[in-house]
Amino acid sequence: MTETIQHAVIIGGSSGIGLATARKLLGLGMKVTITGRNQDKLNSAWKSIGGAAEKAAFDASKPDEVGSFFERLGPFDHLVLAASGGKGLGPFHTLDLTDIGSGVDEKVRPQLSCLQAALPTLNKGGSVTFISAVSAQLAMPGVAGIAAINGMLLTVVPILAVELKPLRVNVVAPGVIDTPWWDFLAEEQRRAIFADYAGKTPVGRIGRAEDVADAIAFLVSNGFMTGQVLTCDGGLRFAA
Ligand SMILES: NC(=O)c1ccc[n+]([C@@H]2O[C@H](COP(=O)([O-])OP(=O)(O)OC[C@H]3O[C@@H](n4cnc5c(N)ncnc54)[C@H](OP(=O)(O)O)[C@@H]3O)[C@@H](O)[C@H]2O)c1
Repeated sequence: MTETIQHAVIIGGSSGIGLATARKLLGLGMKVTITGRNQDKLNSAWKSIGGAAEKAAFDASKPDEVGSFFERLGPFDHLVLAASGGKGLGPFHTLDLTDIGSGVDEKVRPQLSCLQAALPTLNKGGSVTFISAVSAQLAMPGVAGIAAINGMLLTVVPILAVELKPLRVNVVAPGVIDTPWWDFLAEEQRRAIFADYAGKTPVGRIGRAEDVADAIAFLVSNGFMTGQVLTCDGGLRFAA
């Protein structure tokens, strides 16, 4: 008997965790489509995985672009939501509260908007995996804003797992992962922050995109997992 090849779509698949997930799911024999806003970045990501994936450039924060992407795409099996902005970090007393709204616009709304637009064509026997952040699960000074943004995704997952059943809905909460997400920091500052987090993390290092990709692949491929938050942080949650 021939098995049908599963098709996974990775929103924000042109960099970091999304790109590592594309590589992982391709390795598992799936068909993969990666997306991102920047066409050049998408092209080089596509080349880095040997041109093995499909690709589409659009902005997940723009509902019309999201709608036409999913209409064009047709039926598929798994949705991985890796797009984000970087707003909301910093001490609460100086936090610009408009950053919380921007963070919702850049991360929460695009992820929810993609899922909503995908529902008519997403295989009910498939899965959706959101990406939140461990910042929403730990009591660490300086992350209240980013926790407020990411906490929304942790909150909706069990509800959607029940409301959208039998579609499986899960979320991964990564710790500190070495990806281009941190490029807003100067090299030296980034290295110092990574070293500090590595020291605080029980496994003694920060994460690699591949660590999180493995966690995502587990949720995508395990048909008995739904409504779950899978924290992939090297134990930082319990030690920070
Ligand atoms: N790295 C960490 O330490 C860490 C920790 C916790 C959680 N996370 C979360 O993990 C997820 C992946 O982050 P990453 O570290 O892999 O970051 P990354 O390397 O910056 O990748 C982000 C990806 O999302 C795409 N993207 C961003 N906004 C988009 C939009 N509006 N429409 C379509 N694509 C969009 C980017 O491509 P374009 O820029 O070309 O659009 C890129 O492909 C994010 O949700 C992030 O918040 C990361």
